[in-house]
Amino acid sequence: MLSGKRILLIIGGGIAAYKCLDLIRRLRERGAVVTPVMTRAAEEFVTPLSVAALAGEKVYTDLFDLTDEAEMGHIQLSRVADLVLVAPTTADLMAKMAQGMAGDLATTLLLATDTPVMIAPAMNVRMWEHAATQRNLAVLRGDGVAVVGPNDGDMACGEYGPGRMAEPLEIVDAVVGALADGPLMGKRIVVTSGPTHEPIDPVRYIANRSSGAQGTAIAAALRALGAEVVFVTGPAEVSPPDGVEVVPVETAREMRAAVLAALPADAAVFAAAVADWHVVDASASKIKKVAGKMPTLSFDENPDILAEVARMTEGRPSLVVGFAAETDDVIDNATAKRARKGCDWIVANDVSPSTGIMGGSENAVTLISDSGAEAWPRMGKDAVARQLAARIAEALV
Ligand code: C5P
Repeated sequence: MLSGKRILLIIGGGIAAYKCLDLIRRLRERGAVVTPVMTRAAEEFVTPLSVAALAGEKVYTDLFDLTDEAEMGHIQLSRVADLVLVAPTTADLMAKMAQGMAGDLATTLLLATDTPVMIAPAMNVRMWEHAATQRNLAVLRGDGVAVVGPNDGDMACGEYGPGRMAEPLEIVDAVVGALADGPLMGKRIVVTSGPTHEPIDPVRYIANRSSGAQGTAIAAALRALGAEVVFVTGPAEVSPPDGVEVVPVETAREMRAAVLAALPADAAVFAAAVADWHVVDASASKIKKVAGKMPTLSFDENPDILAEVARMTEGRPSLVVGFAAETDDVIDNATAKRARKGCDWIVANDVSPSTGIMGGSENAVTLISDSGAEAWPRMGKDAVARQLAARIAEALV
């Protein structure tokens, strides 16, 4: 399952470090080669000797070990792996990673690596829930770091809650998933998702009811098939998926800039509910309420990101997919939209309030392409996403 895969395992200094011995065994049972790196704190919990014995490999412990530098420089060490796995990831390591610090071998490798990184956090529940840790987690997710766990449970410190490191077998499953050679391996796909917020003044904005659920599910499904996903998201209700590069934006104009910066790509999926207009000259200070006097807002059109990308003459992704959320004459309107925007596929859906689709967990879509309209049965948004990702994979081979 993991045969031939190289995993650079960075062991952080927490009580959960003892589980790493089992983790190494499980990874090796599945054919992986595990190169262990221990932080100085990790050595307080497990000995390099036991780690080396289980890994059957040299353990790297010190940035300034000249023999190691002669044998294999730290830059090279950080890059020969297929995956850098940090387990356990302490709150301290998360903070250092989020800040890009490189004060020892482990953090230097994490900063120098160009391979995917996965963390398995483990810490006291209060430390996990602390705003600083949650902030660091969001930064790391945004950097494309995959996260496994932590789990709820009794902790070594006597408290109960989230903070226990995921069990070795769960980590192995996540590693297998992350290294799966899916059909979209080597393909780069940009996905837009969520609503946009168009400011009126610093406290008010124009928005829509999109939760970001469908776009998030699509990004996750593409990632699961091995794609490198750039996820450009407006302020959505649902959290972005793991393992994708997250680019948070607020307005349609920011979304356009982020999408253009993410190109070139093999495919682009525009699932965002982009506002059609923005307020011209949004006020820099809060507009005062004056009795009997209504503010006058004037609007300007937002850039149509889908149409712009679909009509690019140079560097156009080979597959451009748009969505059409309609309340009437869904197929006719969506077919016309496909022609108007110049995209390859339109995923059309009926968002009349009676369908409960906008903001709900299910979707009933019709895929409109060159070959006509294909209605899919009503199903969960995750299932729609998996089916769409599979079709994208077929189209890109
Ligand atoms: O024109 P309409 O908003 O109905 O088109 C919907 C499709 O176009 C969606 O795929 C949406 O993400 C995309 N779109 C866009 N930029 C806009 C408006 C819509 O990318 N300004």
